[in-house]
Amino acid sequence: MTLLLAIAVFSCVFVVCQTAPQDQSWTEDVVSYSGFQLWSATPRNKTEREFLLKIRQDYELEVWRESRSDNSPVDLLISPDFQTELKLRLADAQIPYEVKIADMQTEINNENPNITDSGTEFENRFSHKMDWNSYHRVDDIYGYLNYLADTYPRLVQLVSIGSSYEGRPLYVVRISSSSSGTKPAIWIDGGIHAREWISPAVATYIIQQLVEVADNERLLRNVDWYIMPVMNPDGYEYTHVNNRLWRKTRSMTGSRCRGADPNRNFGYEWGGKGTSRDKCSEIYHGANAFSEPETRAVSNFISGKANQIKVYLTLHSYGQYLLIPWGYAVKFPADYDEMLDLAKAAASKFRRYKYTVGNSADLLYPAAGGSDDWAKSIGIKYSYTVELADTGRHGFILPASFIQPVCEDFFPALEVFVDKVATVKV
Ligand code: ARG
Ligand code: ZN
Repeated sequence: MTLLLAIAVFSCVFVVCQTAPQDQSWTEDVVSYSGFQLWSATPRNKTEREFLLKIRQDYELEVWRESRSDNSPVDLLISPDFQTELKLRLADAQIPYEVKIADMQTEINNENPNITDSGTEFENRFSHKMDWNSYHRVDDIYGYLNYLADTYPRLVQLVSIGSSYEGRPLYVVRISSSSSGTKPAIWIDGGIHAREWISPAVATYIIQQLVEVADNERLLRNVDWYIMPVMNPDGYEYTHVNNRLWRKTRSMTGSRCRGADPNRNFGYEWGGKGTSRDKCSEIYHGANAFSEPETRAVSNFISGKANQIKVYLTLHSYGQYLLIPWGYAVKFPADYDEMLDLAKAAASKFRRYKYTVGNSADLLYPAAGGSDDWAKSIGIKYSYTVELADTGRHGFILPASFIQPVCEDFFPALEVFVDKVATVKV
């Protein structure tokens, strides 16, 4: 009998072991960034710029931040394999550089405190698990959106505008104090780039403030809101489970590399400058414009409301910029000055983090197929990309203790957009 039981237990364990890897998170490798460093190198002239470009190509380095001009640094992720060699080459060329992050994996391990550690708060609260003390998984975020829709049915409508490549719902929250929801509207999206975790955090904070804080009621009086906190949920989950620095979607491309850069996949000047047809590139533009279900769903939804939506804001990190189209080339829309004035007014609201305002291609680099350009192209007058904090000390791996300060600093700027569009006719 004991023997039989022992055999049963043993085979049971065996079967479990065999079947467990069904879950994707078991079979896919977890990427470690142990020993990886973030270097910031500053070219001072054309020769040094070209030298850095050459090095980037030779070692296929991942760029975290582009150099804007001479004396503006480029941030590069450096694998431990190349560090000794690159030190010598940079020293040879006498290019100044500093090591900004000495061990990326340590940085990643310290970024997000374990959610279950944040006290007994959640144990007595069955309704939702959301807060702004840590970065949350898609389930927590979606749980919160559903909670809001259930709790404030007169204010909040949860719309699924489609499914991601891996089948997750693509949620847009409509916040409107009138049942018809036909006031001039502001669109905000977050999480288009998977690793930019501060972006969904800020987008969900905005939702929380608009819905749950009575004092903000005046922001709803004359304006409707459409907020999509996680545009690329597959990528976002992948950064939590497998690879913290994943940027793209997770679609199959027919090569060993997955995903397209959703912010190169929109259908305006698609495939132009600052994009790549290399499927392994971080800026792969996809097989065609709107090849990704996520960008397709967003464009369909927004197109249907192009007359109502007056402001388009897309939240990224990092750099602390308010970027104005066009982004595909250093070109300026006819009403650029009006767009600039509004962006400056918004930027003047920031107290803690200073934002630089200007043309996207000019301040950063030309990059075609961006969502901001596309929104502008269909007639949404005030279209901006927001690069949230910081300016590079932590980059994408912004510690969770920054979430509240960044959110609180950003939220008051929305008032400026509200005042602008409140009076516009739909
Ligand atoms: N960091 C963003 C990106 O590379 C900037 C996008 C600005 N907009 C644009 N249309 N290029 O996607
Ligand atoms: Zn981004």
